[in-house]
Amino acid sequence: MQHPDGEIVLRVITMPRDTNHSGTVFGGVIMSYIDQAAYVHARTLGLHRWVTVMVERIEFVAPVYVGEMVTLRASTAATGRTSVTVRVVVDAERYTTGESARVTVATVKMVAIDRQHQPIPFSSPATLGSEDGMSSL
Ligand SMILES: CC(C)(COP(=O)(O)OP(=O)(O)OC[C@H]1O[C@@H](n2cnc3c(N)ncnc32)[C@H](O)[C@@H]1OP(=O)(O)O)[C@@H](O)C(=O)NCCC(=O)NCCS
Repeated sequence: MQHPDGEIVLRVITMPRDTNHSGTVFGGVIMSYIDQAAYVHARTLGLHRWVTVMVERIEFVAPVYVGEMVTLRASTAATGRTSVTVRVVVDAERYTTGESARVTVATVKMVAIDRQHQPIPFSSPATLGSEDGMSSL
């Protein structure tokens, strides 16, 4: 049965390098993971280049600490012609208790683009080909 918050798209361990001056994990690190999670989800809806056009909302509900396993789930909140709005929820497994805590919730709008950086319908056939391999970036 599908999880109500969607598939797990990313799972990471927070490291000492991720902390801010208070010793908790820097919000920008979490935001970077959220951006990646939204991309991973968008890519399942169309094999294209995708860019983030807007972070519609981000709520830091609770802090994340070093050494915690952070799980990001993503689901489709809305679709347009070229865009997909992705809801990303972030849960941290507390290091000492193993309890899962909801730490961040975000809504991110992604746009499918072609090689000329023009928006394209995300439901169009794949626009990535062998010529788009990493060596051609
Ligand atoms: C995303 C981008 C290609 C859109 O270009 P554009 O000329 O505005 O394109 P359009 O007007 O055709 O809009 C394309 C889609 O983006 C949405 N969009 C554009 N600007 C938006 C904004 N400011 N807020 C929310 N949605 C926006 C439109 O609603 C449309 O969605 P739809 O087709 O599903 O209705 C362009 O804004 C861009 O390149 N932005 C930078 C992306 C980037 O570098 N991101 C960071 C790294 S990934």
